[in-house]
Amino acid sequence: VILGYLSRKFVQKSRNLGRKTSQLGEDYMAGITDQLNGIKDIKSNKLENSYIEWLRSLTSRMNAEQIEYVKLKSSSQLIYKVSAAILITVFIFISVKVFHAQGEQLLLIILIFSRLWPRFITIQSNFEQIAATLPACQAVTKLIEDCSKEQEFKQADALSLVTKPQIECKDVYFRYKKDSHNYVLKDINLTIPHNQMTAIVGPSGAGKSTLIDLLMGLNSAERGEVLVNGQPLKDELLLSLRQSISYVPQDSFLFNTSVRENLLTVNAQASERELWEALEFAMAAQFVENLSQGLDTVIGDRGMKISGGERQRLVLARAILKKPALLILDEATSALDTNNENKIKESIDRLKGKVTIVVVAHRLSTIQAADQVLVLEEGKVIQKGSFDQLAYEEEGAFHKLLEGQFQTVQ
Ligand SMILES: Nc1ncnc2c1ncn2[C@@H]1O[C@H](COP(=O)(O)OP(=O)(O)OP(=O)(O)O)[C@@H](O)[C@H]1O
Ligand SMILES: [Mg+2]
Repeated sequence: VILGYLSRKFVQKSRNLGRKTSQLGEDYMAGITDQLNGIKDIKSNKLENSYIEWLRSLTSRMNAEQIEYVKLKSSSQLIYKVSAAILITVFIFISVKVFHAQGEQLLLIILIFSRLWPRFITIQSNFEQIAATLPACQAVTKLIEDCSKEQEFKQADALSLVTKPQIECKDVYFRYKKDSHNYVLKDINLTIPHNQMTAIVGPSGAGKSTLIDLLMGLNSAERGEVLVNGQPLKDELLLSLRQSISYVPQDSFLFNTSVRENLLTVNAQASERELWEALEFAMAAQFVENLSQGLDTVIGDRGMKISGGERQRLVLARAILKKPALLILDEATSALDTNNENKIKESIDRLKGKVTIVVVAHRLSTIQAADQVLVLEEGKVIQKGSFDQLAYEEEGAFHKLLEGQFQTVQ
């Protein structure tokens, strides 16, 4: 017991080393992921040397830390073994000199001691090992706790779809950080009418994508509320709404599988004909036909093996295949040439009246058919109305945006 108490210094040291191992592991994972994602930037800007230097310094710190751990383990083992030898000598000396122990009693004591001591050393070294892995374990436990705190809803068995979604924002305020003074969205009051097309326009950084996240319940309002058909957007309604939504984000994401599997993720029962119809809609059928294995071509990590515009068209096709009640397009055709963009615009216009559509677009020519245009600036809706109505308001922000684009075209 006394030895165990005295050796707590080793356990403490192991714990500190474990903390370092954990931190180094985190730095390594974050750094390597960043570098793999940004490999084109690194190579084109000739930044390889600085990143190699980073890797060398990190691995040498990892190396030093591992050596320190092995040293700690060996020195604690050495101390236990030496103290065992001293202890047993003292024990035998006292037994013989003070208690006049007989040979057979001594033998028994030595036997018990030699059986018990290795156990003690194992327990001690296990303590050190546990102490070293404790920080990593605590980090994972904290992550699990954080995740369960943020859990949005319990999975319901049967969900009803929101077939006629009408979304309203009432006095909505939102900011990403609670301690930030500036709200990203302020005093938002709007209605996204069912089966109509709503366009959201405004300068970069105005809060358009943030507003869309709120409409889908990916972020929740700090003040005010988001209502779907009059009901607050939470719990089961959140899941039902998402099941009825197709969302094409600003940066398109595809899985590292075939075109077919990427499409089927949203609608596993889709027939071959439905797949091609969706691809036609998104002007993607021709390039998919030209791929080496057509629908079964694997398109690489995040769709790396096809062009940016082709990726965008596939993501749009996937969105259409889901047959949504609410279609949300955030700059969904920004990477396309004018010809393809116009054709997709025509396809989307044909959906008008059948699906609720929300479009974010910088190129205003693509939203001419919108029933409602919302102009967002610095997180506020500064103008609202139909395309024609806003185009005629000469002092309005929308008119200026239009004029700016018209001049650029001329
Ligand atoms: N995850 C985030 N954390 C903190 N701030 C964010 C985050 N995402 C966006 N912001 C900030 O919120 C503001 C609005 O961003 P948002 O992406 O909504 O703009 P946007 O209107 O969609 O712009 P763009 O036209 O360039 O896509 C910006 O000032 C941005 O810096
Ligand atoms: Mg955006």
